[in-house]
Amino acid sequence: MLLCRTIAELRRQVAAERAAGCSIGFVPTMGAFHEGHLELMRAAGRSCDVVVVSLFVNPTQFDRRADLERYPRIETDDARLARSAGVEVLFAPSVQEIYPAGFATSVHVAGLGDVLEGQHRPGHFAAVCTVVAKLLSIVSPDVAVFGQKDAQQLAVIHRMVSDLNLPVRIEAHPTVRENDGLAMSSRNRRLSPDDRRRAVALPRALAAAAAAIERGERDWSDIRNGVFESAGGEVDFEYLEALDPSTFSPVDAFGSNAVLLAAAAHVGDVRLIDNLLAQPTLATEPPAGSESDRYSTSKEAI
Ligand code: PAJ
Repeated sequence: MLLCRTIAELRRQVAAERAAGCSIGFVPTMGAFHEGHLELMRAAGRSCDVVVVSLFVNPTQFDRRADLERYPRIETDDARLARSAGVEVLFAPSVQEIYPAGFATSVHVAGLGDVLEGQHRPGHFAAVCTVVAKLLSIVSPDVAVFGQKDAQQLAVIHRMVSDLNLPVRIEAHPTVRENDGLAMSSRNRRLSPDDRRRAVALPRALAAAAAAIERGERDWSDIRNGVFESAGGEVDFEYLEALDPSTFSPVDAFGSNAVLLAAAAHVGDVRLIDNLLAQPTLATEPPAGSESDRYSTSKEAI
């Protein structure tokens, strides 16, 4: 695996791979790799001949300085894991390389980028879109893989790629979870053992809300209040919303269309986000299987 620090080195390497007839798959990341990241890398390897991964903790997308400072940085471990997942090129630039003096451009996806996470973290998606647009321009991949764990990020990037006619195919990968249902996240490393135990209340709340919708319950505020009560203060919810999966506008009346349940919650000083797709048309059938079945791949396809 080749480690590139500069845009020029990376471009030279990609040009050589292209000249050899290889297609390029790309996975942008902020490092501290877990199985979720590695699954995205393997998926890119199934779609393309050569996998490029970027490792860049993008300072502009953090709304809290403390969150940026505490973001885990373990590049040596990351490089070893990326190699084991079949990555050919790891692009780990400095902040200076990505944002040289005078950098002044921003990509804002209006609407989709302003609600939910965009509302709770103003400027977040403009920062994400700007760095992703820049990385896509640098790497020029055929395919870029993103996780449904960050469902709104995925939707915003789809919109940006479509609106700007960027020549790349975006592939979505289902959320990879721990055995108890907690979505894997680089921030999980910062949970104390007690907070880690409490954090599972987040996916359980989403699963309970999805089960209620699929049982035929129709009053979202009742469902949400019930879920908050049974979460029993284990986690501190910032939001729990039922949304149209393509527009991210709130859904109050459930018809037959899939509903995206999205939540952000604080556990100790860690902020976690998660989401789950509910299918109201299942209302006449009994809820499928055990609770862990809630997190199966098919339920997450958006
Ligand atoms: P990061 O949080 O490192 O995530 C990199 C990619 O991994 C994203 O596409 C994210 O959705 C995906 N991912 C994270 N946890 C996952 C899980 N449990 N299952 C499946 N996929 C998962 O997202 C970012 O970095 C940044 O915003 C970035 C796009 C790199 C721009 O800076």
